[in-house]
Amino acid sequence: MKIELISAVTVIVLLATLHSMAQKSLGEATKGEFLFGVAVNMNQVKGINPIETELISKEFSAIVPENCMKPQPIHPKKNRYYWKDADKLVTFGEKNNQAITGHCLIWHSQIGKWFFIDADGKDVSPEELKERMRQHISKVVGRYKGRIKGWDVVNEAFEDDGSYRKSKFYQILGKDFIKYAFQFAHEADPNAELYYNDYNVETPSKCDAIVELVKDLRTAGCRIDAVGSQSHMHMNLPTLDSTEASFKKLRDAGIHILITEWDISILPSPYEGANVSANFNYSKEMDPYRDGVPDVIQQKWNKRILDMFGLFLKYRDVVDRVTVWGLTDNSTWLNNFPIHGRKDYPMLFDRNNQRKPVVDEMIKLAEKFK
Ligand code: XIL
Repeated sequence: MKIELISAVTVIVLLATLHSMAQKSLGEATKGEFLFGVAVNMNQVKGINPIETELISKEFSAIVPENCMKPQPIHPKKNRYYWKDADKLVTFGEKNNQAITGHCLIWHSQIGKWFFIDADGKDVSPEELKERMRQHISKVVGRYKGRIKGWDVVNEAFEDDGSYRKSKFYQILGKDFIKYAFQFAHEADPNAELYYNDYNVETPSKCDAIVELVKDLRTAGCRIDAVGSQSHMHMNLPTLDSTEASFKKLRDAGIHILITEWDISILPSPYEGANVSANFNYSKEMDPYRDGVPDVIQQKWNKRILDMFGLFLKYRDVVDRVTVWGLTDNSTWLNNFPIHGRKDYPMLFDRNNQRKPVVDEMIKLAEKFK
């Protein structure tokens, strides 16, 4: 009896191992359609949880740093750069044969205050800010020259209504700060792809503004390879139709698309944007799934993921990469944004590092396009 039980367990373990070995990864399944990437944090790069590190290496064909290349961490003071983490991340991606995106060079968030002020605490002159941008970009891009596939050169320069965000860059330099950033990045690594990245690209007024920006950059002779649509999504918004409309608009203007920060929050949301400084009070009603997600809600989320993924595949002639913003439900930024301390379930891997069943469906869908 005991022996029978042991052999039954052995067979089950063996079958499970064979099954996981036979499982295609997302990176493999989407090969030839687009890159499939993931945002990684430093614990994952360092192998603090080896299972997560292994999943990142095996499942994805591209990576992007979740934080370590942003202006504040990589350039905390005027004459101080902190390279250790970014160096490790780039080496990690190379070891895994993954396309590496640099995120991000010029952004109003996660940037040191020093960037915009002089010794007296006053705003620097336009010339000085331009020079600081040039130094920052040429140092960071130059250090990884030839190793980074492409850079998010400017992140989130527009409001949803299509007007320019009144960031310090805009206040001091006007809209030309965007052009300068692209010029400096191209000078530092002429072979790197260069992207403009933003959230709520599905909002028509914002999408129009981005299309105009790309046209202006091209007229000015700047290299720009694609627009990154962050794609931080909710259960109902953006709609599939508005997402497709934005893809059409970009494609019609001859612009390639990257889905750069995909996640679909399962929680109710007080806010539809992704400005990282947004913050709302916690309440139990806004955190309904602490003990797990009811099946009917899970089914809805699965359908939403598959609908969106199907759309990305439909536009695969112009969608060059799809990147999810995090690996597991444990480590997603959405557990703390825009409300701190909730339990969200937006990722493709669960809190036990298990691939969610919907991933198999995604893989089947991708194979249909082969
Ligand atoms: C987020 C990270 O995921 C968090 O860890 C960090 O605290 C704040 O920034 N748009 C972007 C990303 O371009 O860089 C942001 O990442 C999410 C919104």
